[in-house]
Amino acid sequence: MLSRILQPHSTYNAILALRLTYILFYIFSFLSNGNFDVVEARVFIYAGCSQDKYQPSSPFESNLNSFLASAVSGASQAIYNSYALGNDSSSPPDAAIFGLYQCRGDLRTSDCSRCIESAVSQIGLVCPYSYGAALQLESCYVRYEHVDFLGKLDTGLMYKKCSKSVSSDVEFFRRRDDVLADLQAATGFRVSSSGLVEGFSQCLGDLSSADCSSCLEDAVGKLKNLCGSAEAADVFLEQCYARYWASGYYDSPTDSSNEDQIGKTVAIIVGVVAGLAVIIVLLSFCRKALGKNPIFFSFLGHATIPFL
Ligand SMILES: *[C@@H]1O[C@H](CO)[C@@H](O)[C@H](O)[C@H]1NC(C)=O
Repeated sequence: MLSRILQPHSTYNAILALRLTYILFYIFSFLSNGNFDVVEARVFIYAGCSQDKYQPSSPFESNLNSFLASAVSGASQAIYNSYALGNDSSSPPDAAIFGLYQCRGDLRTSDCSRCIESAVSQIGLVCPYSYGAALQLESCYVRYEHVDFLGKLDTGLMYKKCSKSVSSDVEFFRRRDDVLADLQAATGFRVSSSGLVEGFSQCLGDLSSADCSSCLEDAVGKLKNLCGSAEAADVFLEQCYARYWASGYYDSPTDSSNEDQIGKTVAIIVGVVAGLAVIIVLLSFCRKALGKNPIFFSFLGHATIPFL
C-alpha cells in the first residue's frame, strides 16, 4: 500500500529549488574531489512510497532490480507492460514483486524509454528500500508492489491539482464540459480539444474498456467536484488520469496559488542554506590555506565585529 504521497509542485519554483540543490551538489562534489554520482533532478508529478522497507541484498531487492531493468528495456518496445517476478512456488517467500510502467499514449518508444529510464533512476532515491512505490513523471509512470495489484480495479485518488478559478465565463465552461465528456469516453488514451480548452486522458494498459470507462468517469467527476471552475486541472487516480487546461495556460508559468508560495519558500530556504554552506566550505579552505597568516585572521575578526 502506498501510504506516503510526496507532491513536489511541478512549477517554476520547485524547478528552481531543484536547480539550486543540483548546484550545491555540484559544488560539494567539486570541492571534495570525490566522485559524486550526481543524478539529474527532474520534477515529478507525484510519488508514493510504502512505509515497509525491504532488507538490502534480499531476494526482493534482486527481483526489484530485475523489474526495473525489464521496464527500461521493455519501454523501447511498447509503451505499457506489466511484470510479475518471484511469485512462483520455487521462489523464497517475500521475494514476489509485481510492477508495471506506462508512457503517455502519444509517446514514441524511443522517448518512452528515455522517460522510463529517468523514472527508474529516481524511484530508488525517492522511495529508498520501499516494498512498494509509484512515481508519476510528466510523460510516464512506474509502479511496483509486493502484493499483486495488476489488473485489479482501484480508483483511489493519488494526486490532484487545481489552478485558480476562471471568472464566470459561460463559453469556457461549455467547452470544458465538452472536452471532459470526450475524455471520459476514452478506452485507452485520448486527446481532446474544444475551442480554447484542451485535455487528455489515459487508462493503464491492463484495464478492460469497461473498467477504463468507470475509472475515467470517476476522474472526470473529481475534476468537476474538486476543481470546480479551475482554468486547468489534473486528477490522477490509481489506474487512470484526466487533465484539461485553457489554451496558453502552460505557456506562462505565472500561477499565484498557495502551492507556488510553498515552492518559492522552499527555493529561498534551499538557496540560503546552499549559500551559507558554500561560504563555510570556502572559509574553511581559506583557513587551511592561510592558517599561518595573521593578517587574514585580523581581517576576518574585524569584518565580523560590526555584524555581532
Ligand atoms: C504471478 O502473478 C501473475 C500476475 O498476477 C500471474 O499472471 C501468474 O500466474 C502468477 N504466477 C504464479 C506462478 O502464480
